This record gives sequence, structure tokens and C-alpha cells, in this order.
Amino acid sequence: MSEKLKVGILGGTGMVGQRFIAFLENHPWFEVTTIAASPRSAGKRYEDAVGGRWKMDTPMPDGVKDIIVMNVNEVEAVASKVDFVFSAVDMSKEEIKAIEEAYAKTETPVVSNNSAHRWTPDVPMVVPELNPEHMKVIDFQKKRLGTERGFVAVKPNCSIQSYAPVLTAWKEFEPYEVVATTYQAISGAGKTFQDWPEMEGNIIPYIAGEEEKSEKEPLRIWGAIKDGVIVPADGPVITCQCIRVPVLNGHTAAVFVKFKKKPTKEQLIEKLRNFSGAPQELELPSAPKHFIQYLEEDNRPQVTEDVNYENGMGISVGRLREDTVYDWKFVGLSHNTVRGAAGGAVLCAELLKAQGYISAK
Ligand SMILES: NC(=O)c1ccc[n+]([C@@H]2O[C@H](COP(=O)([O-])OP(=O)(O)OC[C@H]3O[C@@H](n4cnc5c(N)ncnc54)[C@H](OP(=O)(O)O)[C@@H]3O)[C@@H](O)[C@H]2O)c1
Repeated sequence: MSEKLKVGILGGTGMVGQRFIAFLENHPWFEVTTIAASPRSAGKRYEDAVGGRWKMDTPMPDGVKDIIVMNVNEVEAVASKVDFVFSAVDMSKEEIKAIEEAYAKTETPVVSNNSAHRWTPDVPMVVPELNPEHMKVIDFQKKRLGTERGFVAVKPNCSIQSYAPVLTAWKEFEPYEVVATTYQAISGAGKTFQDWPEMEGNIIPYIAGEEEKSEKEPLRIWGAIKDGVIVPADGPVITCQCIRVPVLNGHTAAVFVKFKKKPTKEQLIEKLRNFSGAPQELELPSAPKHFIQYLEEDNRPQVTEDVNYENGMGISVGRLREDTVYDWKFVGLSHNTVRGAAGGAVLCAELLKAQGYISAK
């Protein structure tokens, strides 16, 4: 018998669910044993339920093809088969909130890719290198839910991963005003060029809901636990424009920053290169060895060259230079579907296991 933890994927037939299944193939700690989706897919073999919808670059793992898909709504039945679940189900925000809490109440931890619980005050929203200590709010959440081991934890939006880690690395210089423009890949909308041909050679200056998330979510990451909830930080203030660009994978951000304490270029680069956190200290299986790379060349980071840095789990930064209006400006790049989605959520689950919040039932 495998000693790996038994994992369920809620919404496992969808685009995000497929990413979890692909990312978890050969994972040393976790094994996908259960997949749940809508009643349309329930009862079918996973391979048949997905049919022509498999969108990953790698083939469907053999180990999941014959899994019989369960109905997400049969919470007790699904929960009884697993140690914890990843949630990638597509329903209304209210339905997602309710079903994720329902799983938590069966004593099944939920690590979610969805935005529904990102602002629930006692739900941690974590980038493991940035705010691993926020997981402690789970103790308060469990009291509210009346659970011993069940809880919900979430990862933040993909758009912030190209600049929030950089600003965190520079925290001691007290950044207080940030202007960011993100250039976001079409996979962030669950699309490829086959199913969104209008994006070829095109730019769309609107991504619903994205600017608010890009401005507000970093403040929650930089917040602290007070009286059993996460209280967001009140700065630095961020203003953001989010643009859809004809790129398959990789969100780029062009960012301007003002600092209260004036750093030198060497200091800023040194802070990036030496930045690491709990995943590196704990040597978590999906942790990048070096979280942030700084590239000296004027034409980097580039999506085609750099998006897969550290298997898509690292952040690439370049073009750091003084600005005439702000203090410094730079360009950041992250892999939106790896670090920004499934990979980021798996790293959260690894951290939760290392912290003792996820274990075998
Ligand atoms: N795609 C992205 O890049 C992306 C980016 C950011 C956030 N998200 C969020 O991630 C979630 C999943 O997105 P996605 O693109 O993977 O969606 P998707 O490809 O449409 O897949 C949705 C999944 O949810 C299941 N589902 C849909 N309606 C259901 C219902 N009423 N009851 C139970 N299960 C149901 C589907 O099952 P069937 O296959 O049986 O229909 C499928 O497994 C969404 O909340 C989305 O907003 C996605």
C-alpha cells in the first residue's frame, strides 16, 4: 500500500483540475485517488469523462484514466475516500463557499484554487514563501466550523505573483506606492489559441475583476492575524491595470515603486537573489531552489526564455532601473498556471503537511 496521502480533486475534469492532476503525477507525498465533478461526469471513467477536453501539454497520467468520477455534491461519499482535497470546481461563488465548507466540516482539509474564500476573514490566503505564518489562522477557523482537522485554505490570484514576491523581498526599504501593469496570458482565462483565435495578434485591455484582485490581494498577504482573523496591511498602496496579451502561459508585470528608505540598485538585486522562505528551509518537494532570479540582460525576462524557470515555480525579474517619477521600475514574470495556480496550491498543501495541518485521516 502507498504511504502517500490520498488526494481528491474537486472539479478534476476541468481545466484547473487537469492541471492539478498533471502537476501531481509522481508527487512524492500526494496521490490522486479520487476525482469528482458535476453529475454530468459522475459514474464515468475519468478518461471518458474528459473526452476531448484534455488540455495539458503532457499526456493524461495512466494512474487516473480508470478512476470513476464521483459527484462533487455527494460530499460525505467523496470525503470518506480521501485525506484532503484540492478544489477547482466551477460553480457560483456562494455555491463554492458552501461546498468547500461542507468538505471542511467532514474533517477534510480543502486547498482551493478558487477565489470564493479569499476574503473570508479566518481563511488563510498564502504564498508559502511570503506568509506561511498565516496558516495559524486555521486554528480559529476550525473553532468556527466546529472541526478537529477540517478547514479551507486558499492561494491568491495568479496576477500578483509577478510583483508581490519582489515587493516582499524589498520590505525593509518600505515601498509605499506601487503602479503595476500586468500583461496576462490567455491560459489564465482557461483558454488556448485554438479556442480563442481572436487573441492571435490582439490585445484586450480588460480582464473582469482582475484589477481589484491585483491591487487588494497583496495587502492581505502582508497582513497579520489579530483576534482570530487576517487583518490586511494598509500599504503599500497599489494601482494596477490588467491587459490580456497573445501569450499562452506567463504573466508579465511592469512595475514602478516609491520607497521611504532609498535603496541602491545593488541592494535591491541582492535582496531578490537572497530571498527565500519556509518552502526552501523545509525543502518542500515543489519548492524552487531559488525563488527569484534577477536577469541582467536588457531583453529579459522574456516569456519564451524564462517562464519555466525552476519548473515554473520561480519568479524572473529584470530591467531594474531608476525612474524619473517613481524611485525604481522593473519587469517581473511568473508562470500563471504553475506558480499562479496548481503549483502554488500544491506548495500550500506541502507547507500544510509540514506544519501538521494535513495528515492521514
Ligand atoms: N481556467 C483558469 O485558468 C482559471 C483561472 C483562475 C480561476 N479559475 C477558476 O477555477 C475554477 C475552475 O475553472 P476551470 O477553468 O477549470 O473550469 P472548467 O474547465 O469549466 O471546469 C469546471 C469543473 O467544475 C465542474 N462543475 C461545473 N459545474 C458543476 C456543478 N454544478 N456541480 C459540480 N461540479 C461542477 C466541472 O465538471 P464537468 O466536467 O462534469 O462539467 C469541471 O470539473 C473556476 O471557479 C474558475 O473561475 C480558473
